[in-house]
Amino acid sequence: MEKRFENKTAVIVGGASGMGLLAAQQIASEGGKVIIADINQENAEKCAADICAAGGFARGIRCDVRQVAEVEAVRDFALAETGSLDILIHTAGGASQRMCNAPGPFATRPYEVLDWGIDVNLKGPLYFSRAVIGTMLEQKRGVIILLGSIDGVTGSAMSCDYSTSKAGLIGLTKSLALIGAEHNVRACCVSPGPVLTRPGMAGMKTPMNRAAEVQEVVNVLLFLASDAASFITGTNYLVDGGRACGAQEYR
Ligand SMILES: NC(=O)c1ccc[n+]([C@@H]2O[C@H](COP(=O)([O-])OP(=O)(O)OC[C@H]3O[C@@H](n4cnc5c(N)ncnc54)[C@H](O)[C@@H]3O)[C@@H](O)[C@H]2O)c1
Repeated sequence: MEKRFENKTAVIVGGASGMGLLAAQQIASEGGKVIIADINQENAEKCAADICAAGGFARGIRCDVRQVAEVEAVRDFALAETGSLDILIHTAGGASQRMCNAPGPFATRPYEVLDWGIDVNLKGPLYFSRAVIGTMLEQKRGVIILLGSIDGVTGSAMSCDYSTSKAGLIGLTKSLALIGAEHNVRACCVSPGPVLTRPGMAGMKTPMNRAAEVQEVVNVLLFLASDAASFITGTNYLVDGGRACGAQEYR
């Protein structure tokens, strides 16, 4: 098997579930050292233990991306355990109305639910980028990959704070690319349409008449994290089955 990540350390934020977990498993299977940082400490440690049992290198650590001290502790942990920090994939996040069980429309959504959405989906990636970029600039290598969403490109009537935060990640990506470019540090955003990380996503429409398999997004994450993407930075990748093409029925 190809070993694209040998001698590299990848921090996967939100790596105890979904796209982050599959990315962590596959980076480890290709020789990378993986740090799984997640607010669910038990799952993070279990996922890391499973990777180790399969012959890979992984560590799990609790991290709430809203807490700067915990974010910085993940960076320090990665450096202490492995000696470098080459890849950051920030997948932690989700639509606030689902995560906070507040399904009503924007006009009545509690303000603290909006805060949750911005804190986790925008400020978390901002904090993590801030925490790791100094190390990457010093190393003269690194790549930061942020998980956006198609909602950040098209807008979303149901997910106003979510689309706001995910759109913000596109600006953050471009800014990180400009900071890192001359130091061999890259940044990319990946904006999926519906992904089958849970059964409910199967009902979301795309022109391809289906949601993405988790692997179809992770393929892009791993490509962008690898040296094969060495001249790609500042870009937002849509992995959406054509959902952003404009037709109202797909929104
Ligand atoms: N699944 C989709 O259809 C879809 C579509 C577009 C974009 N996305 C985005 O992709 C990313 C990953 O989605 P997924 O479906 O794989 O997610 P998921 O729900 O399977 O996993 C998210 C992980 O983030 C963790 N997390 C939640 N809050 C956290 C916090 N405050 N600090 C640290 N960790 C926290 C959770 O414990 C969980 O392990 C998210 O940012 C999501 O917004 C998902």
